[in-house]
Amino acid sequence: MATERTLSIIKPDATRRNLTGKINAKFEDAGLRIIAQKRIQLTKAQAGEFYAVHKERPFYDELCEFMASAPVVVQVLEGENAIAKNREVMGATNPADAAPGTIRAEFAESVGENSVHGSDAPDTAAEEIAFYFSGLELVG
Ligand code: CMP
Repeated sequence: MATERTLSIIKPDATRRNLTGKINAKFEDAGLRIIAQKRIQLTKAQAGEFYAVHKERPFYDELCEFMASAPVVVQVLEGENAIAKNREVMGATNPADAAPGTIRAEFAESVGENSVHGSDAPDTAAEEIAFYFSGLELVG
C-alpha cells in the first residue's frame, strides 16, 4: 500500500453545528494525518466549479447553494491508502446507508447535507487538492 493524499471538505451543515473537532478526531483515530487545513467561505460560483462534474444532475443547483451557505473546512489527509480509508471513515453518501460509527452515520442530516466530501480516486484527489491548496501549503 502506498502513502496517498486525498482532499476532504467538512461541509456547511457540520461547521454550523460546531462539529469540526469531532470529525477531525475520526480522521486521526483512523490513522489519517491532517497535513493541511483551512476554513473558507465558497461563493456559489466556486462551489459550482468544484462540483462541475455533477452539472447535469438534478441536485446540482441545490448542492452549490448549500456549499456556499456557510464556511467549509478544506483539508488534505495523508496516510496509507488514504483515499479509500477516508471513504470508509466517511461512510456511504446517503446517511441512511452509512455503516455505524462512520462520520455520515453519526453526523449527516441528509444525502445532500452529508457533513463531508472526500475524493474518490488518485486523479481526482490530485485535481481537488490543487483546486484549494498551493504546493507551498503542503508541508507534510
Ligand atoms: P459529495 O461526496 O460531496 O459529492 C457530490 C455530492 O452531491 C454528494 O456528496 C452529496 O452531498 C450530493 N448529492 C448526491 N446525491 C444527492 C441527491 N440525491 N440530492 C442532493 N444532493 C445529493
